[in-house]
Amino acid sequence: MVRILLGKVEEVTPGHGKTFIVQGKRIIVANMKGTLVAYENFCPHMGGMVRYDGEKKMTCGWHGAQFQAATGENIAGADGQKLKPMTVVVDGENLYWEKSEEKSPWADDFS
Ligand code: FES
Repeated sequence: MVRILLGKVEEVTPGHGKTFIVQGKRIIVANMKGTLVAYENFCPHMGGMVRYDGEKKMTCGWHGAQFQAATGENIAGADGQKLKPMTVVVDGENLYWEKSEEKSPWADDFS
């Protein structure tokens, strides 16, 4: 597991969401009344960006698919697919993405 700094926790205030772009990933972090949730900001329909409505939903700006903000489950559109959850952690005043290390497809070739 590798921690990658996204920013300061205070950047995601209650009732708002913010998209961070790190290492080629868009990660939306939403603050649901003090509880942080995070997803890859990549709509499963065609890759559009979603926005948090400040309450219970995330909505894609391209064709209007909707997702539960708390779980990423599909509400409408995007062929029933859900958002991909991302792991974020708070450490002090900082917000990190906890990235699982991906094994190289060639890792076993040289052992
Ligand atoms: S890309 Fe999100 S609904 Fe089409």
